[in-house]
Amino acid sequence: MRRRRRCLALLFIFSAFITPLGFFYFTISNESGKFGFSSEYTSGFQTSEVAEQPENVQLDFKSFPDSECSDFSSNVTIDYPECLSKMQWIRNGWKTHQCYADNYIDGSECSFRYYLSQVENYCPPMTETIRRNGLAKMSPSIRRLLPIFDGIPVYMRTRINRLWKKWKEGAHEVMETYEKTMTNRKKLNVLVFIGFLANEQKLKLAKKSDHGGPLGELLQWSDLLASLSIIGHHLEVTTDKDSLRSVLWKYKERGPCQYVNGTRQQMDTIFTDIMGLNILRQYHRQFLLNNRCRIRLLDSFGTHAEFTTKTYFLQNKRKLSGPFSQRNPWGGHGLDLRQHWTFYPHSDDNTFLGFVVDTEGVDEKRQKTLYPSALVYGKEKYMWENAEKPIGVLKKFVKIHATVADLEDVNEKKTNQSTVFDDVKNHGFLNSQEISELLDTTTIFFGLGFPLEGPAPLEAMARGAVFINARFEIPKSRKNYKFLAEKPTLREWTSQNPYMEEIGEPHVITVDINNEKELEIAIKRAIELKPKPFVPFEFSPAGMLLRVALLLEKQETCGKIAKSKRWPPVNQMKIFKTVNSGDSCEMTCHSQKMKCESSYFPIINSPSLLQRQFGCSSTIPDASPFAPFNCTVQSSAYLFSCASRPPLEVVRVCPCRDYIPEQHAVCKACL
Ligand SMILES: *[C@@H]1O[C@H](CO)[C@@H](O)[C@H](O)[C@H]1NC(C)=O
Ligand SMILES: *[C@@H]1O[C@H](CO)[C@@H](O)[C@H](O)[C@H]1NC(C)=O
Ligand SMILES: *[C@@H]1O[C@H](CO)[C@@H](O)[C@H](O)[C@H]1NC(C)=O
Ligand SMILES: *[C@@H]1O[C@H](CO)[C@@H](O)[C@H](O)[C@H]1NC(C)=O
Repeated sequence: MRRRRRCLALLFIFSAFITPLGFFYFTISNESGKFGFSSEYTSGFQTSEVAEQPENVQLDFKSFPDSECSDFSSNVTIDYPECLSKMQWIRNGWKTHQCYADNYIDGSECSFRYYLSQVENYCPPMTETIRRNGLAKMSPSIRRLLPIFDGIPVYMRTRINRLWKKWKEGAHEVMETYEKTMTNRKKLNVLVFIGFLANEQKLKLAKKSDHGGPLGELLQWSDLLASLSIIGHHLEVTTDKDSLRSVLWKYKERGPCQYVNGTRQQMDTIFTDIMGLNILRQYHRQFLLNNRCRIRLLDSFGTHAEFTTKTYFLQNKRKLSGPFSQRNPWGGHGLDLRQHWTFYPHSDDNTFLGFVVDTEGVDEKRQKTLYPSALVYGKEKYMWENAEKPIGVLKKFVKIHATVADLEDVNEKKTNQSTVFDDVKNHGFLNSQEISELLDTTTIFFGLGFPLEGPAPLEAMARGAVFINARFEIPKSRKNYKFLAEKPTLREWTSQNPYMEEIGEPHVITVDINNEKELEIAIKRAIELKPKPFVPFEFSPAGMLLRVALLLEKQETCGKIAKSKRWPPVNQMKIFKTVNSGDSCEMTCHSQKMKCESSYFPIINSPSLLQRQFGCSSTIPDASPFAPFNCTVQSSAYLFSCASRPPLEVVRVCPCRDYIPEQHAVCKACL
């Protein structure tokens, strides 16, 4: 098995060299030892690195007079808010670790200034020639990822391999179109800790993923790993507690400097999931305290402000819950909401990570079969419960295919009263490639209302099928739908896939599938539409590479940040008041074809702005997810919220920004 995979991997390495453009960075260095895999087991798995030229970083700071080095203009704190306090600290602090001396600090003012300006980025540069420490280079060679392949489930390796050609094409595309954005990025140390593989269910889940089962998370982790590697960051991947411990230890030993000899020392970003966060909290409390702001939490459905702190939730849990549960097991992490990265671009408070739609082998010229067919979206028997009526309507017009994995016995359907599987061709479990081939000839991809927001409808659209998206006459939410009852969000699902709902015809028809008349019309229309295959840019490899590169480079959730360096840029902010009573800021910005940008909230949360907008004679502070509103300013930074819908008489003030079409996470001036 392993040998076969290595052959496969070598094949991919080989193909990586036959690349038409010259800007990619491929080097064959003698890394044969790295293919031994097992020796790295105890320290986690990290991307193999190509040896870099040591940079010539010398700056002769001794030629500057001491007075010049500590002489800052009075407005220095506008652009460098921490400069003066860091200068103050380092005069004694440099003795606390050898790494400062390694960076040429010798106790002189100019050596302090040199360090804080050129090595770290706290003070204005001393000269025009700005030194660029370790830059991230685009590296679309799968070779970098091979060392981590032993630590991840087969499903993930297969997906990364299968899509690698598309990733390479995406890397070329994004370099050609957004070269300026993609170069001059800092090379970061990124830890990927896949928490849900680290607990006892590990074996079960990984096994299940080879036979169907919940793949959404594995799919997103695969695409994240591919993206991070291609955009050139240093990756450490761990899927168990032991290797996590040794990785954290390694970084702890390195000390507090950001660079030594031009090589980045610190952990910059930590991707994990809720189970991973719980493990960090339990076993590495101090590390978590020190690195909380560096966490990026994969959180498919997103988290709203009301659920992020335990205190607010507990005080309001009755109002925030329905009949099924008043618990908040997935919330209460106290993170900045932007640290929650989602599966679809659905909550403006959170950050959109997304995934890539598998377009391997899409043939634009391939004809759909003459007789129209439908593939029903529902991989397990239970998803078909109560679907007899809509399936019955569908049967009148098309040949129905299914991929129900747990319908082992053909006779089983006869023993039940249910006729739902009569005349349905069930293929059983299919792997990605087989599903893709089936979708290539499918006219209609038919949603039954569950699962919510999976990746499959996008894959169907990418192969030219029309997605029939089940509309919910009464939107589903935490308050009325059991599946959502403990999710930390008040989001209201108007259909099985609200993102697809917005795409609309010719690719998507959203309809109440229990309304026979409307469903018939929708099916007939779907057969006529014959759309071309379509993937929104944000779900293509190029779109994901661009987004992940920008977010890692620019999104700041640690420390003080100068106004001029905020991202998205502050000058892109447009302020609107909510017009319809009960509208959230999200709804208000969307009605302007914009997104609500939560990082702007602290800027507009000012008494003087409210006085201008509402003519208040004075303002009062309140800890409320609706603030700022009317004459009330926000008093809790945790409660700024794009999503919250206020009571009728409240008028909210909303900060909005534009976005690149088909790339919701990125504003036009954000590149
Ligand atoms: C700060 O002051 C200097 C001159 O003292 C000026 O050149 C610079 O533009 C000012 N910077 C800001 C951000 O105002
Ligand atoms: C940095 O370089 C110096 C001299 O080249 C060397 O002695 C030192 O060990 C290096 N430090 C690290 C952390 O690599
Ligand atoms: C068929 O009947 C069995 C046992 O009565 C039940 O467990 C199963 O869920 C039924 N299948 C369907 C599709 O209703
Ligand atoms: C908020 O302001 C709007 C108009 O500016 C006003 O109609 C409304 O009554 C105010 N609400 C409260 C609670 O003061």
